[in-house]
Formats: sequence, C-alpha cells, structure tokens
Amino acid sequence: MFVLNIKSLEGILPREVNRLAGSDMATKMSSLQDAWLSVGDDGRVEAFGLMADLDPSALAGHAIVDAAGGLVIPAFCDSHTHIVYAGSREMEFEDKIRGLSYEEIARRGGGILNSAARLAVESEDALFDAALSRARDMMSKGTGAMEVKSGYGLSTAAELKMLRVAARLSEAVPARVAITFLGAHAVPADYRGRQSEYVDYLIADMLPAVAAEGLAQYVDVFCDRGFFTVDETSRILDAASRYGMKPKIHANELDCSGGVQVGVAHNAVSVDHLERMGDEEIEVLRGSDTVATMLPGASFFLGMPYAPARKAVDAGLTVALASDYNPGSSPSGDMRMVMALGCIKMKLTPVEALAATTINGAAAMELSESTGAITPGRDASFIITRPMPSLTYIPYAYTEPFISKVFIRGRAI
Ligand code: NIG
Ligand code: FE
Repeated sequence: MFVLNIKSLEGILPREVNRLAGSDMATKMSSLQDAWLSVGDDGRVEAFGLMADLDPSALAGHAIVDAAGGLVIPAFCDSHTHIVYAGSREMEFEDKIRGLSYEEIARRGGGILNSAARLAVESEDALFDAALSRARDMMSKGTGAMEVKSGYGLSTAAELKMLRVAARLSEAVPARVAITFLGAHAVPADYRGRQSEYVDYLIADMLPAVAAEGLAQYVDVFCDRGFFTVDETSRILDAASRYGMKPKIHANELDCSGGVQVGVAHNAVSVDHLERMGDEEIEVLRGSDTVATMLPGASFFLGMPYAPARKAVDAGLTVALASDYNPGSSPSGDMRMVMALGCIKMKLTPVEALAATTINGAAAMELSESTGAITPGRDASFIITRPMPSLTYIPYAYTEPFISKVFIRGRAI
C-alpha cells in the first residue's frame, strides 16, 4: 500500500532510537514535507520519500490511499489504562462537584472499591464486550498500542477474570496490548484493617496464579498515601520479579510517597502519575532507565496539580504521557486530548508532546523497537489527519475533529 500526497510526514525516527530523553524530545523526531509512505504486507512501514521523487511505475499493483494534504503522524501509544471495568462512576462525579476529594470518596468505600463491587458480579463476557468497545473507541481516536491493567478484582478469581479479558482483548484488536497485574490497587472490603494480610495473600496466592497462566508481563502497585506503603510495594515487587514481572507503578499521585524511589530501586519500566514530585524524585529518575509517565487527564478530571513535565524534560528525563483511562479519575482514552493538555497545562511543545504520546509511551511498554514512530520496519500504525496547517494545529484546535483515517499495523480502522 502507498499513502500519497502527505503534506507533512511527522514523527520519523531512526531504527536504533527507542526512546527520547530531555532535549532529544524536541529535536530527534524529524518530518518530511510533501511525502509518500509505503506499507508492506507484514503491516510494517516499508519506505517513505518525497512526492517529487516518486517514480509512478512503483505504484503499479499497489493499493493507493490519498492523504489529500493531511499530515501523517505515528499512532498514539497509551502506556497506562484501566479499561477493563464494569459500569461507571458518574455518581462520584457528582460527589466531586459537590466538594468531596478522590481520597474522601475512597475512604467512604467508593472509588476503586465501588468498581470492584460492580466487577465482582459481572460476567467475563460482559466485561470483555465493554473493554472491547473502549479499545475500539481508543483505536478510532488514533491509539495503536495500549497497556491494560487489572486492579478492580482484588481477589485471585476476580483478578484472573480481568486479566483473561485483557488477554482476549490483545487477540481481538490490531493494536498491541501490554498487560499489567495491579492486585495492589486498593485493600478490598473483606480485608479492611488487615492490609498486611492482604499483601501476604497477594504474594502467596494471586501472584503465583497470575504467573501460572502467564497472564501479565508487568506488576503495578498503587504506592501512595492511604493505599500501599513503600515497604509493602517493595515486598510485592520483589515477589513479582521472581516470576519475571517487571514493575510499572502508580507513584506520587497523592503525596511524595516514596513511590518513585522504590520503583527506580526495582528497575521499574515506568513510574506513573507523578503529580507530587520534588527535586529529589527528578534526581532519582535522572540516574535510571525508568520512564516518567504523566497522566494529565487525571489532573484535569480531579482538579489536581499537573505533573512537572516541563521541569522533567529540562532535567533530561524520558517523559511519556498516557490517558489513565478509568472510571474514577480519567474516564477518557482520548490521547489527542492528553497531547493538548501536555501542551496547554504542562508546557510541552507540540513536538515534545508527540514524542511523549508515541515513542516514549511505547518505551513505557517496552514496545518501542516495534512501534511508536515512523520508521521502516516499525509498525505501520499511523493517523492520516484532515488537511491542516501544521502539527501544532492538533493540540491547538483541541476539540476539532482532526482524524481522517487511522491505520494500525497496516490495517485501516
Ligand atoms: O490511576 N490512582 C489509582 N488508580 C487509578 C484510578 C482508579 C479508580 O479510581 O478507579 C488512577 O488514577
Ligand atoms: Fe492509573
């Protein structure tokens, strides 16, 4: 397949570049004006070049897609989602409008425990249908790779149910899917007041069961005030490492929780949220390979401070932006909105925000050798935009429909 008449082909990277740190986020992704792009039968990008240099005989026998003056950008890589859930939590939305905080709602047994109660009575098939519909929405909005977490089960059986749904999802959609076990998302109601016993149960029962079915590549812990402590997180990460599960953790959303430090000490692939981050956390991340993943949709929805993305990029960190799509703190998987918040609220430039939502998101799922940029040999996962003046127009006109077509691994969505 050939895509012709591309006004600007954006997000081009050499094959050997698998993540962008600090100032490289602004400079290393290149673009080509008035371009064509070809896709192989294997669903990967084959080549690209200038329209002026294209030999028309090369097109013979190939499908042609006319970009008609639209841009082509890499599909988004959303490295942090909780899209397997039952029902919704719009009553808590009203509670928040009336002044209750996320933590107050959680302390009353709402929040994650509310979703856990709904998930417990939902069939695996119904959960799958709901998650599939969310994944399809995300793909239609340009997401070509996504991470999916468990964490509303909070018992061995219900966590396995969630992870099986995530595994089925990865088979059902063209997008790449990374799967994370988040048994330590909250202490379930039947363990109230016995948090350390829940951690014992998670380590002795849940982890081996998840590992036995090979259901998760990653392990996550909500390491924060009112949720799991640094010591508990450390125990869980140590235990998970014995099954080959690498950490991607929820850290520093509610407090300077020590989550960043414990994550980095365990070689976390990413530490995520980071709304509360001081100089010490930035220093710790600077000396590591851990991706700093920020979730501006949660800050927007909950009215929290935004993570210090500008400062983190200026300090040389590898910053990714993800949606955190979940029913409590970010009921949206719209990565264009995430990109726009990255620019408007976090002061990233559009090119930096593109790097954060593509190649660095892929790096936060260890998928960046295969996806996350326009590169011969990487996935042909990209968005053809409507005609528009420049990349900057995407986060600028932040509610204007911008997509003409989405391709994921060479297939039109
Ligand atoms: O990333 N903070 C912890 N977990 C999710 C929210 C989950 C929920 O409220 O259902 C998050 O924001
Ligand atoms: Fe989350």
